[in-house]
Amino acid sequence: MKILKSTLIATTLLMGISCKTSNNHKAQETGLRDAYKNSFHVGTALNRDDILQTDSLRSALIGKEFSSITAENIMKSMFMHPEKDVYQFDMSDKYVEFGEKNNMFIHGHTLIWHSQLAPWMRSISDSTEMAQAMESHIKTIVEKYKGRINSWDVVNEALNEDGTLRNSAFYKTIGSEYLAMAFKWAAETDPNTDLYYNDYNLTNKAKRAGAVKLVKDIQSKGIKIDGVGMQGHWHIDSPSIEEIEESILDYANLGVKVAITELDVSVLPNPWNLVGAEISQNFENNKKLNPYPEALPDSMQVKLAKRYSDIFKVFLKHQDKISRVTFWGTSDKESWLNDFPVRGRTNYPLLFDRELKPKAAYDSILALKK
Ligand code: XIL
Repeated sequence: MKILKSTLIATTLLMGISCKTSNNHKAQETGLRDAYKNSFHVGTALNRDDILQTDSLRSALIGKEFSSITAENIMKSMFMHPEKDVYQFDMSDKYVEFGEKNNMFIHGHTLIWHSQLAPWMRSISDSTEMAQAMESHIKTIVEKYKGRINSWDVVNEALNEDGTLRNSAFYKTIGSEYLAMAFKWAAETDPNTDLYYNDYNLTNKAKRAGAVKLVKDIQSKGIKIDGVGMQGHWHIDSPSIEEIEESILDYANLGVKVAITELDVSVLPNPWNLVGAEISQNFENNKKLNPYPEALPDSMQVKLAKRYSDIFKVFLKHQDKISRVTFWGTSDKESWLNDFPVRGRTNYPLLFDRELKPKAAYDSILALKK
């Protein structure tokens, strides 16, 4: 414990990071988007309120800090294509308009995903019917925003942890071929948008091998795939910087772009790692799992800033391979990690605090560009 404390103090001094949320923050001078403009896009995910611009201060902050956007939910099939013959483009129109108004790189998330999947599509059991549903889904949506959406997550989370293909509604009906088919249809519809495969835990060895194989399979068929999106749902202590670096290199070696998507760094214990813990509903009131309900202690604030600094150092080292780094939200207040994998916790994974003030983590990332 003593060692930990002195290490943290030393780290604080070394990095010149203030433990408090800085008031005279550099956010007023240069935003991240400008600071990183020669390296890669820095993006955020927009929720419904962001898209509707219900808070003008927040909209201005997003416009200043980020050069790219991803829709956190509204472009998922259950919202965008709720019935076979019904598409809902109201929110996505507004989302794209926001990006255009702010001169941003606009990402589409996501075309083919087993989760938040429109129920009508999930219930299909025939392979021809599923292929037709996928084809019209992909073609209609990509066509609608042709020339306006700069890159798409064509397929999201197709892999199991061991690198095999997930038994999704698409796999069950069509088999492994559905992946190449999805990329082909997207490429045919808009040849100028970048097409990504996106997944989490892509730093894990076995899953990484699976992702490499998946990309190679598509390439070997002569079908266009432009990038791998590594969801950065990471933790304060894992994955290691070495694992992150090795993974970036493995994907870049395939000749595709690497995007870090959905970046957030959880500071809370992972319930699945707690030895002897029973996974049950009373988790919600478990102090062990929700140790910072009021505020993040200074020591953890510093640790998070150091972690973000380490992560961004490796991104900068490989900036020639990285197209975009997108955070999964703007402030801690609305982060999905307050409710996942345990509901009702208080997490601190992002760059801006619950009052939208930049945290030490923000300063540490900006400082790398000073
Ligand atoms: C999450 C959203 O953040 C939540 O609001 C929603 O309830 C569930 O989905 N991988 C993805 C994202 O590709 O779309 C997920 O987003 C997080 C995991």
